[in-house]
Amino acid sequence: MQSFTFSGSLAGRSVRRIGFGAMQLPGPGVFGPPRDRDEALAVLRRAVELGVNHIDTSQYYGPDVSNELIREALHPYPEDLLLVSKVGAERDAQGGWVSAQTPADLRRGVEDNLRSLEIDQLGAVNLRRMDEHSDGEVVPLEDQLAEMVALRDEGKIGGIGISTAPLAEVQTAIATAGIVCVQNPFSLLDQHDADVLAACHNAGVAYAPYFPLGSAFPHLPKVVDDPAVVAVADRLGATPAQVGLAWLLAHDDSILLIPGTSSVAHLEQNMAIGDLVLSPEDLADLDAAGT
Ligand SMILES: NC(=O)c1ccc[n+]([C@@H]2O[C@H](COP(=O)([O-])OP(=O)(O)OC[C@H]3O[C@@H](n4cnc5c(N)ncnc54)[C@H](OP(=O)(O)O)[C@@H]3O)[C@@H](O)[C@H]2O)c1
Repeated sequence: MQSFTFSGSLAGRSVRRIGFGAMQLPGPGVFGPPRDRDEALAVLRRAVELGVNHIDTSQYYGPDVSNELIREALHPYPEDLLLVSKVGAERDAQGGWVSAQTPADLRRGVEDNLRSLEIDQLGAVNLRRMDEHSDGEVVPLEDQLAEMVALRDEGKIGGIGISTAPLAEVQTAIATAGIVCVQNPFSLLDQHDADVLAACHNAGVAYAPYFPLGSAFPHLPKVVDDPAVVAVADRLGATPAQVGLAWLLAHDDSILLIPGTSSVAHLEQNMAIGDLVLSPEDLADLDAAGT
């Protein structure tokens, strides 16, 4: 039988392995105010009530919306709450994602997060690589990491992470900046990042997969719709989301979950996966369905 250890660590702090991703709190397309502001605030408060002490956010979610909701719902923050953000992008007036990758952009992003969350230090900050969106010049990774190290030395961030980065960049970031976490897409249905996950495992770096359920973006396949996931969920009397998340926890002990939801009911389901035990048969069926 597979059971989980429910504590992990990130940036030298102890965190529960089930955290919360704040990207589903703003309006559609991660843009503008929430569909239901009271529900968004309730999700954040309930998350902490249920033991979440690791929240992933960004200034560019909304923009400004996720951070303002977090501050309104939770400030003054519980002492053990680790707020993790990311820098490297901005939004235009139509909600488009704009690359903001220069060292000055990264510094401004950190300052904006500190201001909107009303804190002096972010628990960790991921450098969100956006090369694919740069029109023209690509900012050298070494220059970006040097600025992140400076921000850590100044005490503005507790740890450095990297996001949407291939293996070679992750290895550079481990060797030169002592990163504490990686955020790349990974789920039962998308295991293309297995090499990075293995590198994190070997280096003792936390791996917080984004899109653990396949995201809210309509073009990506959803873990909850996968027939093998649904079959295991039926067998266990669990929901497909719970099975998809539990599979991630069982898959590698460096994984920290940050599933995103705008719903208290979904949050409660996701937080209840501690009660779920995947048998060798369940895991074999799920592994066979994975790619
Ligand atoms: N570093 C990066 O570049 C990056 C990129 C993307 C995301 N992230 C972070 O990673 C986090 C997770 O990714 P994500 O939010 O994009 O995608 P996700 O967690 O894979 O999926 C979110 C979707 O799953 C649904 N959902 C959640 N719990 C559910 C449940 N129990 N049953 C059914 N559906 C459920 C949500 O809908 P409802 O709202 O209706 O529950 C939403 O549509 C984000 O919140 C964000 O913090 C980071």
